[in-house]
Amino acid sequence: MGEKEGFTITPWEVSGEIDYDELIVRFGTSKIDEKLLERIARYGPIHTMLKRGIFYSHRDFNRVLDEYEKGNPFYLYTGRGPSGNIHLGHLMPWIFTKYIQDTFDVPLYFQLTDDEKFLFKEGMTLEETKKYAYENMLDIIALGFDPKKTHIFLDTENIEKLYPIALKVAKKITFSTARAVFGFNNSNNIGTIFYTSMQAVPAFMVSEWEKKQVPCVIPCGIDQDPHFRVARDVAPGLGYPKPSLLHCKLFPSLSGDDKMSSSSPMSTIYTTDTPKQVKKKVGQAFTGGRVSVEEQRKLGGNPDICAVYQYNYYLFEEDDAKLKKMRDECVAGERLCGQCKMELTEKINRFLEGHQERREEARERIEEFLMKSVNCH
Ligand code: TRP
Repeated sequence: MGEKEGFTITPWEVSGEIDYDELIVRFGTSKIDEKLLERIARYGPIHTMLKRGIFYSHRDFNRVLDEYEKGNPFYLYTGRGPSGNIHLGHLMPWIFTKYIQDTFDVPLYFQLTDDEKFLFKEGMTLEETKKYAYENMLDIIALGFDPKKTHIFLDTENIEKLYPIALKVAKKITFSTARAVFGFNNSNNIGTIFYTSMQAVPAFMVSEWEKKQVPCVIPCGIDQDPHFRVARDVAPGLGYPKPSLLHCKLFPSLSGDDKMSSSSPMSTIYTTDTPKQVKKKVGQAFTGGRVSVEEQRKLGGNPDICAVYQYNYYLFEEDDAKLKKMRDECVAGERLCGQCKMELTEKINRFLEGHQERREEARERIEEFLMKSVNCH
């Protein structure tokens, strides 16, 4: 899957320059269009990430809204594979998830797949991935989710709730399907082949527990879609509703590549970075600037390839007018990269200061968020 012309995108690998419109065709999803945005606007303000096409693709969100209007609300499900520290790119879809939660007043189930990262990451022990799960939880809590409506869980610690559903899913998926969708071969360990059934479980568990069809909406990076395509395929046969999806583009890296990756720490800003580290990383970022000040004044810069501009576009400049001004000044040669880097450094550090404070406070709040008793939360 996903290895045709130009770029590769699977839940475990992203390479090449991603053509997001092409992905809609390749995966068979739907574009989030004006009509859908108008529908969402009935419930609250349209989030910048929707306006700017960062959350840009979906499956069946119209159907979910039909049900919602009939008085059958949905729940949210998203997740994180805890294999390291959290960077800004991870926060993006979670911030959006909170917006959907606040707008529609719905519960959220947050899966921490310590099993996944143990199985897929060479050299990663279960103890390590579990430790990261608890560290990562602090970042989730720091975003301000409502503990009464937000239920976080680790796969290994909740397996007795999850396993019966995972089994039902697994029985419906052949090896040949898993191989075709995820590109497995004979050297994959057998845990990796089973894993997708674990990621499907939260999409079905509330329906299972409440013994009725409860719609599920999954905000996620579009790279996770293959898991949910499989989940959607097996859902009717198990008597569950097909989960709906809201897909986002991948957060850019400071080096100008498509996805902020944990494998290159200098092009990634972690939530635990110090102001000095942020300054250094932004200072070394790839920009759309010219080779010299004179040339830039004469020819202008190129915001479309500029990581600093992308950071503003994705997360750090929500004011459309200010963003446009930044862009216009850059293109006109009136604004130099140094100024943009300084401003972005300040914005990130301001954000991180608050986040790090809330993150520390979260250490005392973990219990409030952990998914409780067997029958639901
Ligand atoms: N597989 C995801 C990762 O590697 C984690 C995950 C589990 C997830 N369930 C999810 C992501 C649901 C988005 C939505 O990070």
